[in-house]
Amino acid sequence: MSDTLTLRRPDDWHLHLRDGAMLKGVLPETARHFARAIIMPNLVPPVVTGAQAAAYRDRIRAALPDDMRFEPLMTLYLTEDTDPDDMAAAHASGLITAVKLYPAGATTNSASGVRDFERVRPVLERMAEIGLPLCVHGEVTDADIDIFDREAVFIDRVLDPIRRATPGLRVVMEHVTTSDAVDYARSGGEDLGATITTHHLVINRNDILVGGIKPHYYCLPVAKREEHRLALRAAATSGEPTFFLGTDSAPHVDPLKEQACGCAGCFTATNTLSILAEVFEQDGALDRFEGFVSLHGPRFYHLPVNEDTITLTKGDPVVYPAKLDTGEGPVTIFDPMMPLHWRVT
Ligand code: NCD
Ligand code: ZN
Repeated sequence: MSDTLTLRRPDDWHLHLRDGAMLKGVLPETARHFARAIIMPNLVPPVVTGAQAAAYRDRIRAALPDDMRFEPLMTLYLTEDTDPDDMAAAHASGLITAVKLYPAGATTNSASGVRDFERVRPVLERMAEIGLPLCVHGEVTDADIDIFDREAVFIDRVLDPIRRATPGLRVVMEHVTTSDAVDYARSGGEDLGATITTHHLVINRNDILVGGIKPHYYCLPVAKREEHRLALRAAATSGEPTFFLGTDSAPHVDPLKEQACGCAGCFTATNTLSILAEVFEQDGALDRFEGFVSLHGPRFYHLPVNEDTITLTKGDPVVYPAKLDTGEGPVTIFDPMMPLHWRVT
């Protein structure tokens, strides 16, 4: 097995960059390795209009160090008041690449999300018409549904009915965490894709809860049983174009993670490619690594693959810092609990 690996430059199909000092702190961590990323719109207040998306894109461009190149692929946050014309214009001008659906209350900054799915039907129909993909946070929020079941229940109660009612709607199941979601994604044909995060390939729910609670492993959707992690590993390393990387790298400063009610989100931008190379090597799938990180995403989004390449080299374990200092405070970098031998050179 060769000790270097050259692949087309990867993209991240689900990323939280935040704003202000945090944006400035975390953006280089992604831009160093990735050419493009789908930028999540769950700011406070959320990015709901084309004008807001354009302003946010400009703030991201302004925060990028001069010596780096990076293309933010903007999204709109779907609300019950989203204006289909504004959305369609933002898509036609090339400003937005997708629209994000958060069920209200499902995760960080999702209060403005959708409660009544009937109310967004005209928007979804318009999206199907113009070929604008819908990125879905797939969890129900009903108080009586156990948190570990929320993804599977969402597929039956919400996602499948929406897809049946809206033929032609292109959907990305974001950050899938269960074998149920993997199976459903596989059954969906060309109009259905699924992103998988770095951390869900590494941790299961024991890692969060056994031997003391580990707030830095808490994210949403929450990591599930080991059998589900193994299903995600099999999907990610399968070479099937349905599955592609969306890190869901989601920075929160340590004081907000390490408190009585800690925020959800794992920050993986810094060491994602080292972790993924290790995972693919462990599973004997290094030949499918490029597909997962660089080829399947552009194929789903009907975008060209990146022309330039990156090279990873295998050697002594790479030591990443435990924290990234941002202008807002320290952010803990995801600890994969295993030595990492691949570095981006
Ligand atoms: C994300 C965040 O912090 O914005 N948190 C997370 O646990 N993944 C929101 C999200 O993508 O659900
Ligand atoms: Zn996310």
